Amino acid sequence: MQNQNAKQRQLEGYRVNNFGKPLTTNQSLKVSGDEQSLKAGVRGPTLLEDFHLREKITHFDHERIPERVVHARGYAAHGEFTLHKCMKEYTTAKFLQGAGKVTPLFTRFSTVVGSRGSMETARDVRGFAVKFYTEEGNYDLVGNNIPVFFIQDAIKFPDLIHAVKPEPHNEMPQAASAHDTFWDFVANNQETAHMIMWLMSDRAIPTNFRKMEGFGVHTFRLVNAEGKAHFVKFHWKPRLGVHSLVWDEAQKIGGKDPDFHRRDLWETIEAGSYPQYDLGIQMIREEDEFMFDFDILDATKLWPEEIVPVDLIGTMTLNRNVDNVFAETEQVAFHPGNVVPGIDFTNDPLLQGRLFSYLDTQLLRLGGPNFAEIPINRPVCPFHNNQRDGFSRQRIDVGQVSYHKNSLADNTPSPTPVDEGGYEHYQEKVEGHVIRANSPSFDDHFSQARLFWNSMAPYEKQHIIDAFSFEVAKVKSRSVRQQVVDMFCQVDSGLSAAIATAVGVKRPECTPADVTASSPALSMKKTIYVPDT
Ligand code: HEM
Repeated sequence: MQNQNAKQRQLEGYRVNNFGKPLTTNQSLKVSGDEQSLKAGVRGPTLLEDFHLREKITHFDHERIPERVVHARGYAAHGEFTLHKCMKEYTTAKFLQGAGKVTPLFTRFSTVVGSRGSMETARDVRGFAVKFYTEEGNYDLVGNNIPVFFIQDAIKFPDLIHAVKPEPHNEMPQAASAHDTFWDFVANNQETAHMIMWLMSDRAIPTNFRKMEGFGVHTFRLVNAEGKAHFVKFHWKPRLGVHSLVWDEAQKIGGKDPDFHRRDLWETIEAGSYPQYDLGIQMIREEDEFMFDFDILDATKLWPEEIVPVDLIGTMTLNRNVDNVFAETEQVAFHPGNVVPGIDFTNDPLLQGRLFSYLDTQLLRLGGPNFAEIPINRPVCPFHNNQRDGFSRQRIDVGQVSYHKNSLADNTPSPTPVDEGGYEHYQEKVEGHVIRANSPSFDDHFSQARLFWNSMAPYEKQHIIDAFSFEVAKVKSRSVRQQVVDMFCQVDSGLSAAIATAVGVKRPECTPADVTASSPALSMKKTIYVPDT
């Protein structure tokens, strides 16, 4: 108990060990005969009055909850974050103040597309979601293992997921990206180009969760006590380095052990060999927002690390497996909108939509508005407000008054919560006409896709060609196969020619010269950016 962190101590109060305890109903009535129902005679009909049978079966009938609409297949562990570098100059977030500060956390890794029982080595993006239980409330860094995303605007997310999930008429294929609707979406939404390059690379088949990077993807803000902000991107760098399977291994392992990644995480933690990841940040001054030849709010772009260096500021150690996968891994609710003072959002239109989506979906998935009271979701500091009631409310809110501006509360033993000041949103100046359009600064879809391709070693390029060839060859529509090949000519003509040969369509007619001409933003700023205050 002595060495337990605040979250562990909190969860301890909810742990129940049934071993050696008397068998009772949920009403705590001791019962016997858990293996026979109540009958009229040993061969007679079962009696409706058998409350023991009814309660046991009813509870069982309701054991399943909806799986996550995406990231259904996941596995999690508890751990701690230790700060190495005080970030007071940049943010008021208390868990980022004072080198040596330790914060408990819970991390869930996932695949995006597959259902809850799907194999873990599928070619897919991996979720990398971390919930920090800070003294100022929960902070969630809900990231992926790839630094960019498929789309730029949240309004397309339902379309993307409809296209990538199994096709609706026959629910095939279950987990892979090898099908018509996915590649049709890609070819008709060309902002996907950069992400697809990562998805076809070895990054999409990690060896295990311990050897995988994580990225917050979006641009966020750090805000200091003077109200000065810096744009920031968050990264997790695995201490063991980044390692991937090759496709043949991924398929064989997936067939033999669909639990390969969770087994690895569970077993290494049980063995005391704790996975560690350094938290890195990239920062850009507010006034330098437009200094780069890509839009820093565009989630299909990364900030090249050789231009905006990654500063490692702390370490996450995963050191404890869950007691119960349903109670913890399945019921945990991450939300990019869970922030603490000193961390704020930007106008990235993908992030803005996510800020709506997670709470909305969790209201359904976790059965109503009180899921913050589920043990794994509870902050380690108390929460108080005038919200009341709802399905499965656990708290007993005492007092007559549950509204602000009142004259009664001061005379009761439990006055309404006092507004002492707290989270302040960054006072960004905004202006513009109401318009449903993208910024033209989001229009370049190929420069970074090409930089990614050009950064690959020859064997990595071959793996990418093999992946495209495998996946796109499965597409039944010849037209879609041709569109994909034509699209990736804008990344590299050799790449698209190789895919064309493999998937049986004609080689595209674009030349390397066309490719260069179509990418005015190719000239990346070459000097190293230093984000001093
Ligand atoms: C899970 C929506 C983009 C990372 C989810 C869930 C939804 C969702 C509804 C299920 C949540 C739950 O049931 O608890 C969206 C929307 C997006 C988007 C609308 C874009 C508009 C992203 C991006 C990332 C991401 C860009 C990475 C930066 C995750 C992760 C999970 C998740 C890691 C799983 C969390 C867990 O382990 O429980 N997303 N998502 N999503 N999303 Fe997104």
